[in-house]
Amino acid sequence: MLPALVFLSLAIFAAALLWSPHAGRAAYLHLMLAAGAMPLIFGAMSHFIPVLTRTREAERVIGLVPVVALAGGALAVVAFSAGGFSWGWQAGAVLAMAASVALFVWSRKRRAAMLGSPHACLAWYEAALACLFAALLAMLAAGLWPQHFLQLRRFHLHLNTLGFIGLTAVGTLAVLMPTVIGRPDVLAAQRLRRDLPWAFAGTLLVAAGSAGFAPLAWLGAAFWAIVLLRLGVAWLRLYRGEIFARHGAAPLLATALAGLALSLAAGAASAAIVSGGWNLPDPTAVFIAGFLLPLVSGAASQLLPVWLRPGVQNAWHGDMRRRLGRHHGVRALLFFAGGIAAGLGQPWGLLLSAATLVWFLLQAAASLFLTRQGNPS
Ligand code: HEM
Repeated sequence: MLPALVFLSLAIFAAALLWSPHAGRAAYLHLMLAAGAMPLIFGAMSHFIPVLTRTREAERVIGLVPVVALAGGALAVVAFSAGGFSWGWQAGAVLAMAASVALFVWSRKRRAAMLGSPHACLAWYEAALACLFAALLAMLAAGLWPQHFLQLRRFHLHLNTLGFIGLTAVGTLAVLMPTVIGRPDVLAAQRLRRDLPWAFAGTLLVAAGSAGFAPLAWLGAAFWAIVLLRLGVAWLRLYRGEIFARHGAAPLLATALAGLALSLAAGAASAAIVSGGWNLPDPTAVFIAGFLLPLVSGAASQLLPVWLRPGVQNAWHGDMRRRLGRHHGVRALLFFAGGIAAGLGQPWGLLLSAATLVWFLLQAAASLFLTRQGNPS
């Protein structure tokens, strides 16, 4: 189920990017974020929550949660591409809210059932699910108060991007990077515990501030900057050699962190630029091309082998990981350049990131085929 979800999401990302010059903005963005990223995040959480709570693997029924989320996201995309008929995306929002409540309740049950206390990353996931729920509620509220549509839309988009995706990503990255490299970051859990209030408060301030009072949003962005800076400095101290390498998942995961910081800076800059003949930076484009795509490609190269063959790790897993991570250093540069160009409003930025993603998709399919055949690397 999880490997299928990874390939489906990567294919959806590539399709959305290629569709972007021809589709309406809400349609292609939701194809990418609501139909592509949201179900994948639910799938990844259902894998990680048992690990973080040291409990048995997820019950089969939990596998339905990403499917319900996918149905919700798909309904939203159909509604937007067919001219925004509102009951379509409202039904989609209700499905996605049901999925977020189901996963949240399941996570709380696992937390209550475990011995001792869970890994600090679990609280990041629960905060992320709460943000998604509130973001979708905001869009349903827009149906009741259409005069506040623009403010609620801003609230929705920031709670979803920084809150739902950003909190999930940073919590996961702090755990994933040491695993990818095979050397522990002994302060990771302590840092996660200390930084969650900053990241969560930062998200709320950006969401509320962007809907009404810009200085609040800048304060929120500063809170987030502290969190990203602390993680980035720790990584550079511990893993500099692997981050600036030609192969392996580390360059992509580090690029994702830099891309998130860049989209935050683009958001602050676009709020600050009010006049002049400047091009406004597009934070959503940076978020997609410079953060989301390297994040998912990097995480997939580490996790696909485990998800394809769960259980004891052996030479097959190492071989598959080596094949998947080949040339990720080059991809990291291409995604980063694509993110900057897309953020500056250059259409080739999104296309460069789309091409880099398709290159990874082809490599992943070839790795799967060759490793199945048992050919030596
Ligand atoms: C089923 C789930 C979802 C529904 C029903 C939904 C609904 C909406 C609606 C009604 C809008 C306003 C569109 C307009 O301006 O006409 C919107 C905007 C937006 N949503 Fe969602 N959304 C969903 C999930 C998500 C997710 C998961 C994300 C990101 C992680 C997201 C990110 C955005 C962004 C970035 C915008 C602003 C688009 C723009 O700049 O034009 N949404 N959403």
